[in-house]
Amino acid sequence: MISHDLLIVGAGLAGMRAAVATPPSLNVGVISKVHPVRSHSVAAEGGINAAVHPEDSWESHMYDTVKGSDWLGDQDAIEILCRDAPNDIMDLERMGALFSRDPNGNIAQRNFGGLGFPRTCYVADRTGHALVHLLYEQLLKRSLTVYEEWYVTSLIVEGGVCCGVTVLDLLTGELHAILAKAVVLATGGYGRIYSTSTNGLINTGDGMAMAYRIGVPLQDMEFVQFHPTTLKETGILITEGARGEGGYLFNSRGERFMEKYAPKAMELASRDIVSRAEYQEIMEGRGVEGCVMLDLRHLGAARIKERLPQIYDLSLTYAGVDPVEAPIPVTPGVHYSMGGIMTNAHGETPLPGLYAVGECASVSIHGANRLGGNALMETIVYGRRVGTAAAEFAQKTGQTPFSEGVLTRERERILALFSHDEGERAEKIREEVGGVMAEHFGIIRTRDRMEAGIKKLLAIRPRLARLYLHDKGKVFNLDLVDALQLFSIMDLAEAIAVSALSREESRGAHARSDFPSRDDTAWLKHTLAYRSEAGPRLSFRPVTITRVPLAERKY
Ligand code: FUM
Repeated sequence: MISHDLLIVGAGLAGMRAAVATPPSLNVGVISKVHPVRSHSVAAEGGINAAVHPEDSWESHMYDTVKGSDWLGDQDAIEILCRDAPNDIMDLERMGALFSRDPNGNIAQRNFGGLGFPRTCYVADRTGHALVHLLYEQLLKRSLTVYEEWYVTSLIVEGGVCCGVTVLDLLTGELHAILAKAVVLATGGYGRIYSTSTNGLINTGDGMAMAYRIGVPLQDMEFVQFHPTTLKETGILITEGARGEGGYLFNSRGERFMEKYAPKAMELASRDIVSRAEYQEIMEGRGVEGCVMLDLRHLGAARIKERLPQIYDLSLTYAGVDPVEAPIPVTPGVHYSMGGIMTNAHGETPLPGLYAVGECASVSIHGANRLGGNALMETIVYGRRVGTAAAEFAQKTGQTPFSEGVLTRERERILALFSHDEGERAEKIREEVGGVMAEHFGIIRTRDRMEAGIKKLLAIRPRLARLYLHDKGKVFNLDLVDALQLFSIMDLAEAIAVSALSREESRGAHARSDFPSRDDTAWLKHTLAYRSEAGPRLSFRPVTITRVPLAERKY
């Protein structure tokens, strides 16, 4: 049987940073359902936040992050992020990150939404791409074992300790059990639960769902981030860096409508506020064919092509719009999950031996709304911290043995999926779930609409027992992967839905027209969703407030 001291599941920025933080003496395995450089972090565009400028401070970064979170972020976790960020940026530089420079040769920084200082370091508009390749080089240098295109199907728990995973080698179709003294989940977000999203097709929330299935709580799942600028009809991300460089948003009347919603910050208010403003403009008939217009023309061709080369290409290729000549049609689109596996600031979940980091985790830095540029920084700061903490745990822990029965049961579960000669394809049901989530758990929510959405999800659930796999083979059976992913999607959709219905206030990205105000008396608390046979069961825990007192959020 294969065994490692430490297993890291997921090879995006958080997983690779965690792996690179482990000591060379430790036997570490990294598992990824795609080749590491195809992990979704590669799609991050606009940048990474750190107070590296002498006139900036970590305290100011912390204030902006707490305010951005609508005071739901845990301030101890936020403080760690903001204090550590500048050093971690320097570490990336030492590894060879080619950040864009200012005229003096210092790391260039641009404005991003909700920031009180231009704090976002960047590599043009391909920051994620540059950092993923940088960390992949580091991974190769460390000679760790990387299981590429292996798909983890479950976490193994014995005696109350997480001690390994079952995993499908996609190339051969063989199911393996891999033993480990500790497991780190770094599996990213679930954007593909919704019908349109900036996320890659791989983002089906498998890590969150696996943890949820073994009793670990998912925290704050009601907070789903809609990015204000996704390209018309495609959901392709048009970076916030476009507004950071000075882009304007217009409605059909040619008005810079953000004046009404955020007179000071305008287009650079926090994402939840800009997305809601766009939604209102469109709903009240001031959209342009279901979109608003992002205008970059005044920046000029040279600046657009130097700072936003990918946006230039994407608009031209996918919308037929040359942003030097014409505004880009954009709409808000699902982008990020503020919620995730509940962890403490070392990435520990309540289950000994199980850690989580990055978008699949909720530590909680982002609270009710994440600031752009903070997710990449979280993957680096917390990737390093969680890799170190899990390695220390693995060094002082013995291997918990587990019975062969674990593998047999998982094999039977998978074989059962092949047993039907007719039925529904997973992809069709996934599209339906995506439609329900978009229609009933979108930018503006109400009790009636959410209750109707939950009814639809309940009606879909039994259909998962009758899935039909067209491909009966073993080699690269993506039909099987779709089916397994659908179970993750369904679990998480239910957790989001029930958490959202329960929270009777509007805070950050969770906006209810029937409860339009933030309610700190009743709802200054984190939601915890536990899986049960009867559906998600909720409990709550307090928010940690240390330095930044509660205040009204205005931009
Ligand atoms: O707009 C963007 O470039 C996205 C950045 C982020 O989500 O942090």
